Amino acid sequence: MAQRSDNGTLMPQIHVDNIQLRFGGVTALSNISLHIYPSTIQAIIGPNGADKTSMLNCISGLYKPQQGRILFAGQDLVRLAPHQIARLGIARSFQNIELLRHMSVLDNLILDRHIHMKSGILRSGLC
Ligand SMILES: Nc1ncnc2c1ncn2[C@@H]1O[C@H](COP(=O)(O)OP(=O)(O)OP(=O)(O)O)[C@@H](O)[C@H]1O
Ligand SMILES: [Mg+2]
Repeated sequence: MAQRSDNGTLMPQIHVDNIQLRFGGVTALSNISLHIYPSTIQAIIGPNGADKTSMLNCISGLYKPQQGRILFAGQDLVRLAPHQIARLGIARSFQNIELLRHMSVLDNLILDRHIHMKSGILRSGLC
């Protein structure tokens, strides 16, 4: 159930707070803050090299920003390993060469949820 403030406004589920990400001397993300709301589809848009993937990598834990916080369910995701973040229900799909060619677009997307899927030996064998 989405949380609402006293005046009925939808509360953000993820707070990205003042993130800075550097690769050596190159600053990719510089003091970026954003909110992600439950039950919504939100997009990060920008030209090639604008740091979209870097931002998603910070949220999913593949990159660790040098500065800032990413708050979800009372925890700072920056302090958690990618597998711990995945257990919280946050996952990413990949942009290009990491896609599995023999699978459909839908299968590639729901692959990120495999950690939450349960099936017995018999069912796995039949699928
Ligand atoms: N692992 C890395 N090491 C060094 N630099 C990196 C790394 N990952 C990203 N960068 C740099 O950070 C910047 C942002 O790259 P990023 O991949 O986040 O952009 P993008 O917005 O996703 O681009 P695209 O639209 O091409 O997917 C680029 O200058 C890129 O070279
Ligand atoms: Mg990208």
